[in-house]
Amino acid sequence: MQTLNLPSHLDQSPEVAARFSKLKSRPVILDVNHLNKTFHTHTTLNDISLQVFRREFMCVVGPSGCGKSTLIRIIAGLETPTSGDVLLEGTQVSAPGSDRGMVFQGYTLFPWLTVKKNVMFGLEIGGRSSTESESEARQWIDLVGLSKFENSYPHELSGGMKQRVAIARALANNPRILLMDEPFGALDAQTRCKMQSYLLEIWKRVDVTIMFVTHDLDEAIYLSDRILVLGTNPSRIMEVIEVPVPRPRSSSQFLSPEFLATKARLEELIHGPEEAEAMPLPKIRLTHAGDDVE
Ligand SMILES: Nc1ncnc2c1ncn2[C@@H]1O[C@H](COP(=O)(O)OP(=O)(O)OP(=O)(O)O)[C@@H](O)[C@H]1O
Ligand SMILES: [Mg+2]
Repeated sequence: MQTLNLPSHLDQSPEVAARFSKLKSRPVILDVNHLNKTFHTHTTLNDISLQVFRREFMCVVGPSGCGKSTLIRIIAGLETPTSGDVLLEGTQVSAPGSDRGMVFQGYTLFPWLTVKKNVMFGLEIGGRSSTESESEARQWIDLVGLSKFENSYPHELSGGMKQRVAIARALANNPRILLMDEPFGALDAQTRCKMQSYLLEIWKRVDVTIMFVTHDLDEAIYLSDRILVLGTNPSRIMEVIEVPVPRPRSSSQFLSPEFLATKARLEELIHGPEEAEAMPLPKIRLTHAGDDVE
């Protein structure tokens, strides 16, 4: 098989290198220190330390079960670590708070509330008056392009539209960080692509840092400044990759040498020989001699 002669994912153009040096000069917004999480006897997270800079877009990838959701849930304050801590703008996280917005894969809107009421919900809980909440909710609904649907109910919306409402609802509470766990995982490929560019547009316009879990390596490269790669057996940070693809991003970059080099590195880390060894196939044969497909 012929292989492409790719550059290293570590090669950065002067523009990309300048972008990273600017990014790293920003204040650290999220500081994860020596985080461990054990469920019963199983170590899910083992000594995880990382820092995320203000307005950074970081994706988290890794094989199923490596602890991506557990990490996000600890940062959200939905799960307590066994040891270690998480600081958001210097304050220790111990419970959920409005400084963190969450968007999950499942559609988590209240089905009995309209789009507008769903977005107003957190604002009203936070003590805003109904009029104030309504006018603010409208701005967020407008930002995600759903003004015409503000009086619709979730069941009247497509999957992509529901996730846009979920993003508007999360952003309406003015979080410092948006935590997204496979938010586009249930969408078809085309809608997913549209949602990715939507999210980048929103991120450009709102002062928010994003941590985004995905299984889709193209999605991670397309969206991220840096990609956190988690591994299993033992659980650890395998690498933090600075994506060498310039911004603004577009789908035409999917076949660029720097995009492919990053994907090759991710494939190597996630699906390398170690991973194949970790999940041996059972030694059974259900086919008959002579009907091999390869
Ligand atoms: N509440 C829990 N109780 C017991 N074990 C748990 C719990 N939550 C997670 N785990 C275990 O921790 C490990 C990591 O789970 P987690 O959901 O964080 O993985 P993940 O990387 O998000 O996987 P996936 O890619 O499949 O979503 C798994 O082995 C899982 O069984
Ligand atoms: Mg998960």
